[in-house]
Amino acid sequence: MVKKSRRVIIGGNWKLNVTTVNKAVNTANEMSKSIRSNKIEVFIAPSFNSLWNVGKTIYGTKLKLAAQNMHYHESGPFTGEISVDSLVDAGCQYVILGHSERRQFFKETNEIVNLKVLKALECGGLNTVLCIGETAKEREAGKVADINREQLAGSLKEVTAEQMENIIIAYEPVWAIGNKFLNPDVEIKPATEEQATEAHTIARDWISETYGEEIADKVPIIYGGSMKPSNAEELLSSPQIDGGLIGGASLTVKTFKPIIEAAISLLK
Ligand code: PGA
Repeated sequence: MVKKSRRVIIGGNWKLNVTTVNKAVNTANEMSKSIRSNKIEVFIAPSFNSLWNVGKTIYGTKLKLAAQNMHYHESGPFTGEISVDSLVDAGCQYVILGHSERRQFFKETNEIVNLKVLKALECGGLNTVLCIGETAKEREAGKVADINREQLAGSLKEVTAEQMENIIIAYEPVWAIGNKFLNPDVEIKPATEEQATEAHTIARDWISETYGEEIADKVPIIYGGSMKPSNAEELLSSPQIDGGLIGGASLTVKTFKPIIEAAISLLK
């Protein structure tokens, strides 16, 4: 038994990689059949167009539905946006907010992420996966603690202690994310268990200072950035790492299932 007193969560972030409903439904169906354990939480986040059908496909199984983003208004004249109501209506139980791809490509500031987090908590009671993480340049400049603390403080402004029950932090160092657009000049590699543990400890300390130790002990902090079958067990063996947010390796059962199994095996 390595630990794990907190919730353990493995999420699949499909990004813009599964673009048709048919493909999303087939993959989700296959994945839902391969998850047997109740001991951890597993979700997938397909594109918006597939949410409804994937939601119906996995309903009643152990695989849960997540969205990759949402708007901070409930409704109104906001062309191209999607509201929290639509996500809940489609069956989402989780929403990923503040992903570094949203922050970098779509100019989402901590203030914008904060408005989304508050709306998700207020309206849907959704499990809100808040992504934070420094770039390679920020790490080189010795700013890991500053950047992650700043993102936490900015994105969680006015979130109450009670609402923290629905918050999951995803530490995703930008330099580790398997995305050449995010990292044109960086050799992409996963964080080591030590690097991730250090950053998770920084995040947990911030939560403790802000909300108290009891809440800090409960908030799951998961790791994202090139997690795959070959490194999942090592990363997840850290008592500070409560799961993973998986991009590339969540696209097929072949690569996603071993990560889920690694997480389950560490509970024994
Ligand atoms: P990756 O993506 O696993 O492909 O690095 C993780 C993420 O961006 O959530």
